[in-house]
Amino acid sequence: MTRRHLISIDDLGDEDLRAIVERGARFARGGAAGATPLAGAVVGVYFARTSTRTRTAFSAGTLRLGGRIIAYGPGDLQLNTGETGADTGRVLSRMLDALVARTAGDPAEMREWAAQDRMAVINAMSADEHPTQALTDLTTLLCHFGRIEGLRVLYVGEGNNTAAALALALPRFAGTELELRTPPGYGLAAGVRERAEALAASYGSVLREHHHMDAIPADVDVVYTTRWQTTGTSKPDPDWRSVFAPFQVTARLWADGPKAVFMHDLPAHRGEEVTADVLDGPRSIAFDQAENKMHSAMAVLEWCLG
Ligand code: CP
Repeated sequence: MTRRHLISIDDLGDEDLRAIVERGARFARGGAAGATPLAGAVVGVYFARTSTRTRTAFSAGTLRLGGRIIAYGPGDLQLNTGETGADTGRVLSRMLDALVARTAGDPAEMREWAAQDRMAVINAMSADEHPTQALTDLTTLLCHFGRIEGLRVLYVGEGNNTAAALALALPRFAGTELELRTPPGYGLAAGVRERAEALAASYGSVLREHHHMDAIPADVDVVYTTRWQTTGTSKPDPDWRSVFAPFQVTARLWADGPKAVFMHDLPAHRGEEVTADVLDGPRSIAFDQAENKMHSAMAVLEWCLG
C-alpha cells in the first residue's frame, strides 16, 4: 500500500485537496456506506491533548471503514521519557498503517515521525495548524452550498491553528473571499498570512485580515468563529478577555447578511466567542460541521492509506 502523510494542508496538491473534500461529502451523503477499504489496517490514535470530535471522528471512521485502532493517551508513549520522534516513528511504522496524532508541539515533531514510508502520519491538530479541521470545513461548505468556489467567509476570532488551516485551504478555491477579523496581537502568524495571501493571489481569491470589527462586510455566505481558549494553549496577557470582547459573534452580524450560515469548529463557550442564540439558532450548521469531522476523517484515512 502507498502511505501518504497529512501534516499540513500544504501537503495536498489541488487534485488531492478536492478529492478528499468531495469524498468526505460523499460519505456525508451516505454515498459510500459499507465500504471497507481499511480492512486489515491498524491505526494508532495518539492524543496528547483533549479532544471530543477529532479523536472520535478518526476512531469511528477507522472502525466504519473496516480497520482497527490502538489508542494512546498523553502518558503512554516513551516520547515522555526521551525516546526520539524519529525512533518512535521507525518503531510504530513496523506495526501500524497510520498514526493520527494531536500534540501541543509544532509540525516538525510530526515530520520526525513521518521520516519513514510504511506508516501514514496524520496531524489531528498541532500548535500551528489543524489541517483536518479545514478539510471538515470545506466538506461542510460543499455539502451545504453545493460548491466552494466563490463563497465569502467572514472569520471572527483568534488567528489560531483552525484559522491557519482555513487560510491555507479556502483560497485555493477560485473566487473565494476569506476576511479575518482577529483581535490585535492574536492574528494569523506572519508566515501563514504571507503564504495564504500568495495562494489567494495565484488562485484568483481574496484574503484580508483586520484587527477591528468596524465596517464588517455585508452579504457574506458564512460567519465562522472558534473558541477563544484554543485547546492546549494559554494567553500570557491577563487582560486578554477585554481584547477579545469586541470580537464576540452575536446576532447583530446578521443585520447586513441575513442569509449567512454560522460555523464553529467546536467546542464552544456560549457567552464568550458566540452567543447561545446564534450557536443554537436557525442559521447555525455547527453541529452538521461536527458530524462532518467523521466523514472527512474517513476520506483522509482512505487517501493516506491509498
Ligand atoms: N474541533 C475540534 O478539533 O474538536 P476537538 O478538540 O473536540 O477534537
